[in-house]
Amino acid sequence: MAARAEARPALHRPLSPRTSFRRAVPRRSAKVRPSADRVDRIHRIDQIDPFSSADNGSPKIFSAPGAPEPGGEALIVVGGRRLSGTVAVSGSKNASLALLAGALLTRRRVALRGVPDIGDVRQMLALVESLGAAWEWRGGCLQVCAAGLGARSRPHPVDDAAARSLRASFIAVGPLLARTGVARMPLPGGCAIGPRPVDITLAGMRALGARVAVDHDSGWVEARCDGRLRGGNVALRLPSVGATQAVMMAGALADGRTVISNAAREPEVVDLAGMMRKMGARISGPGSREVVVDGVGELGGASASVRADRIEAGTLMAAGAITGSGIRLLGIEPENVAATAGLLERMGCGVARGEAGGLAVVPGGELLGADVVARPHPGFPTDLQPVFAPVMAAARGRSSVRDAVFEGRWAHAEQLRRMGARISVRGDTATVVGRPPLGGRPQLKGAHLEASDLRAAAGLVVAALAAEGLSIIHNLHHLDRGYDGLDRKLASLGAEVYRSAEWAALQPGSTESTVQPGL
Ligand code: UD1
Repeated sequence: MAARAEARPALHRPLSPRTSFRRAVPRRSAKVRPSADRVDRIHRIDQIDPFSSADNGSPKIFSAPGAPEPGGEALIVVGGRRLSGTVAVSGSKNASLALLAGALLTRRRVALRGVPDIGDVRQMLALVESLGAAWEWRGGCLQVCAAGLGARSRPHPVDDAAARSLRASFIAVGPLLARTGVARMPLPGGCAIGPRPVDITLAGMRALGARVAVDHDSGWVEARCDGRLRGGNVALRLPSVGATQAVMMAGALADGRTVISNAAREPEVVDLAGMMRKMGARISGPGSREVVVDGVGELGGASASVRADRIEAGTLMAAGAITGSGIRLLGIEPENVAATAGLLERMGCGVARGEAGGLAVVPGGELLGADVVARPHPGFPTDLQPVFAPVMAAARGRSSVRDAVFEGRWAHAEQLRRMGARISVRGDTATVVGRPPLGGRPQLKGAHLEASDLRAAAGLVVAALAAEGLSIIHNLHHLDRGYDGLDRKLASLGAEVYRSAEWAALQPGSTESTVQPGL
């Protein structure tokens, strides 16, 4: 038995310590393994019955031979486990990305606490590094210094791949233009959730006196200004988070006053403004529809703490609700997840303020369907609609989700249907006919699933937690872009989840295994 255990592949990959962040990609160490009786039976996936009393009640797991996808991993989730306990929510991804862009505004050092160890942060660090900023981790604190940026006639070279890989890269146009007079950036990528134009940001830069050229053939944008930007009135066509942040940063070093109307009210705008004020920026109204920025000549260094990630908190709340589990989340301000808590309460699941801060998910029996519209803050966040679709799929009754921010964000629907969810999409709205557990057994079934983007990946994890049997979620790099060890946190709450590069080689539809017992 001991020899067999040694031959087993590592199925779980814990996060490496923060201090080795630079060297942490990819993290291949393996410290947690499934117990022997979990993996020594090989079956077809449609034969898996985790509720069988045979085999000591252990779920049967199948595998198939084949080389692992290069660098890829799959998440293996054994559904049906009840969660319990307390987990600390990591720092906000979106706030961290904005603060890293904000660090480009000054030649002084910026120190950020609470930045999560995630793929998007690494990409943003690659971007600011390519623009001449230095950074290092010191005892959990990320220090960034963009002393090297200065007025120039030619644009800074930029890490094209990093910039294209994440949407937030584009907000760097604001500080780059303000500090150097020229910014050249590729049109951004990020998650595949439909068109993500940058016209609002560019209109904002033009309103501050920049000349902007977009080359759609090459996919590059160049913005220039003579001398300093000029403050101006910027009426956003939509309350875009990125555009609000970019214009706020550009206006902070412009001559005169910039007034941003129809501004985004997301907490990440408030967080960026908070750090910029510490740097000496004069900003009023962040978090409201109108933000006023009075330009100053220069900004100094600052220290800032990143608050807990409201989307990660919402994802864990969904995990608690769908598994009918009482769990506690530390670090999250309940006000930051008010719309999410409101939806859960309408679905029959309580959310209570924690005694020592944070909050608790308090299941109230059967989940009920509900309607929700994803809107800009303070509405229900679009980033959580793919995460709550599975909760609705496991609830009693009909639900509907309209996404008023990204109308094409439905790639998760097809994957959920593979699990037996009844979900149909028309335009910007999905209708879900819930399939609640019958006789204590889930109607959603484990399946081979392919994550298409960050939040869709999180939604599939949530669905798999409550599905009968075993799910294999491919393309895990999407999840790792934005979650700081979600699987590790779920495991600490009692979920049965494993990571495996070997299992990533399994293809949807693969059936019988010839892998030897002992795997
Ligand atoms: C941010 C978040 C993202 C979240 C989104 C909406 C970061 C890094 N990402 O993205 O997680 O899903 O807010 O809450 O903070 N739009 C335009 N033209 C533009 C800019 C935006 O038409 O120039 C549209 C978008 O297509 C979308 C809407 O405006 O329909 C809102 O997008 P926006 O708020 O800009 O999202 P991001 O800042 O990219």
